[in-house]
Amino acid sequence: MAKISCKGFDWWFYRGGQGPMLVFLHGFPFDRMLFHSSCLPLTDAYSVLIPDLPGFGESSFFSEDAPTQFTIGAYADGLACLFSDLHIEKAVLCGLSMGGYIAMQFFRRYPQLLSGLIFCDTRSTPDSREAVKKRLDLADTVYQTDTAMLAESMIPKLLSTNSQRYRENEKFLFDMIARQGPSGIAAAARGMALRDDSTPYLPEISVPTLVVGGEDDQISPPEAMTELASRIPGSELVLIKNAGHLPPLENPIAFENEVRCFADRIY
Ligand code: MLT
Repeated sequence: MAKISCKGFDWWFYRGGQGPMLVFLHGFPFDRMLFHSSCLPLTDAYSVLIPDLPGFGESSFFSEDAPTQFTIGAYADGLACLFSDLHIEKAVLCGLSMGGYIAMQFFRRYPQLLSGLIFCDTRSTPDSREAVKKRLDLADTVYQTDTAMLAESMIPKLLSTNSQRYRENEKFLFDMIARQGPSGIAAAARGMALRDDSTPYLPEISVPTLVVGGEDDQISPPEAMTELASRIPGSELVLIKNAGHLPPLENPIAFENEVRCFADRIY
């Protein structure tokens, strides 16, 4: 683990392996451990960078003056700063759900830094009014809520009961969500509520793109992933069996295999 301060925020990250760079961005409200079981094996052929996004994991906000909101653009700008400090000229960028919102914004701002994109269980559209309201309510109440209760309420929608690792993942995910700090959760929820529509930019994506979805995902279902892929010229779509919203955790071997085959084709 190493740390770099970018745009005033700490980015703790795992970096390992050698070769072309693959970067993985976790979703909400998780941390880099979401990718460890599926992505660390890729270090046999690739450089792998997995940050804890600011506000999460080791990059939690600890100070009194923690930001009350952290926009998707702020994450994208921070990531570009991280690329620069680590001398990364180009990478395949994979974003899961909220990580995908950031990857789309990153493409809009820094296309020259990308050699490929992987969108996993995510979407390009902004929140509905109702979703914005729910996010802002969560941001306002999370300080009084036990994050363990948040974890309990979220898990049934996140995991597929068809996964062989369901019980083990339920516990792993519960602990992961429960250990996130309220400031990071609130800041990200407010930032997501503010995000704009990336859909008009999808036809401009000119790097190889893989769209990955869990077959049993209730949040970004296969139809939504098919629609997303249909808007990105030349993209490939893969649906992973026995996985819900979190394929890297639920079916790590299949996820690793799809990422590896995609990266091998690019490099
Ligand atoms: C995620 O997994 O990052 C969330 O489902 C994103 C969201 O709440 O929109």
